Amino acid sequence: MIQQPIIRCSNTAKDLPQFLQTLSYDGLFVLTDDNTKQFCLPCIEAIPEIQTAKKFHIPAGDEHKNLQTLSSVLEFLSQNGANRKSLLINLGGGMLTDLGGFAASVFKRGIRFINIPTTLLGAVDAAIGGKTGVNFNGLKNEIGVFAPAVAVLIDSNFFRTLDRTNLLSGYAEMLKHALLDSPSALNRILHFNLENIDYQQLNDLLFESVLVKEQIVEKDPAEQGIRKALNLGHTFGHAFESLSHELKRPVPHGYAVAWGLVCELFLSFVKFGFDKKILSKIIYFVKENYGVFPFSCNQYERLYELMQHDKKNETENINFTLLRAAGEVEINQTADRKEIDEVLDFYLF
Ligand SMILES: NC(=O)c1ccc[n+]([C@@H]2O[C@H](COP(=O)([O-])OP(=O)(O)OC[C@H]3O[C@@H](n4cnc5c(N)ncnc54)[C@H](O)[C@@H]3O)[C@@H](O)[C@H]2O)c1
Ligand SMILES: [Zn+2]
Repeated sequence: MIQQPIIRCSNTAKDLPQFLQTLSYDGLFVLTDDNTKQFCLPCIEAIPEIQTAKKFHIPAGDEHKNLQTLSSVLEFLSQNGANRKSLLINLGGGMLTDLGGFAASVFKRGIRFINIPTTLLGAVDAAIGGKTGVNFNGLKNEIGVFAPAVAVLIDSNFFRTLDRTNLLSGYAEMLKHALLDSPSALNRILHFNLENIDYQQLNDLLFESVLVKEQIVEKDPAEQGIRKALNLGHTFGHAFESLSHELKRPVPHGYAVAWGLVCELFLSFVKFGFDKKILSKIIYFVKENYGVFPFSCNQYERLYELMQHDKKNETENINFTLLRAAGEVEINQTADRKEIDEVLDFYLF
């Protein structure tokens, strides 16, 4: 798969027109959601190319990441004369870049698109790596394609209007990347001041983090092997996230990942001797910032079932990515019901 260049911007209003001048296209389109229309579009609206571009906004929220919204975007492109040489700019979080990227990749069998992630989660994860799609039939990302953006422009200034929950949600993926990378990267993530954010420093940490994902995706774009490393924290995490939706107390994706990391690092300690002191530090960090996921022993069975249904499992075994240490990854690990119950016991008590 073609690599998608990631461009570090300090001022998108200056960097975007420069980048656009390197491309030839026929018709520029901009996609926003309710919030990015209000908070992010004004930052680039003065650019002449954006002034004349056709703009469309979709409702915010993952419940709108569906075929109906996709259809409205395709209709907008079609009715406004988009052709195979047109270019779509996706200005938004992961919901928008997933949906906009998918719309672009199927419209007239594929037009080019640029991602400008406006959430931390989008920048560190969703907008990079080439996965696009929508939810379908109650299942997350059930329909979609791998389709790289022409470029991803990342500017931390957009995160200034993010609420704390969305900021922390993205930060959990940065914690995951640091764990996959090295002990020193992990230290930097654990010691960053989340109470009083220095956006310049956040930008530096973010780019380290983006590089970790970029390098893994480059080695294995289609998720046949090492890309599974990125699932660290996500086997338990997805089960917590799904259960929270079933209980009508939805938690943000990154929070579920933070709790999933605690569980999977404990499993890493049991199976591979992951350092107990580092595990304790991470548990403290996660509890301080994300609290704990509320569930009881009565929900073990359901959590187990949810893990079994995770689409990442290739056999009936539940697949995990575990760590021997920060930076020492073990993919394709499995755990049985008894081991999973032990992890949940550890998490609860
Ligand atoms: N493609 C991938 O590889 C991948 C990876 C991880 C997650 N995802 C997907 O990403 C989505 C989650 O991403 P997300 O958390 O960015 O969700 P999101 O796009 O729904 O954004 C969260 C909220 O923040 C608002 N928002 C966006 N930018 C803002 C800004 N700058 N200021 C204020 N508010 C702003 C949005 O309108 C929304 O209400 C999920 O759909 C998930 O499936 C995809
Ligand atoms: Zn994730």
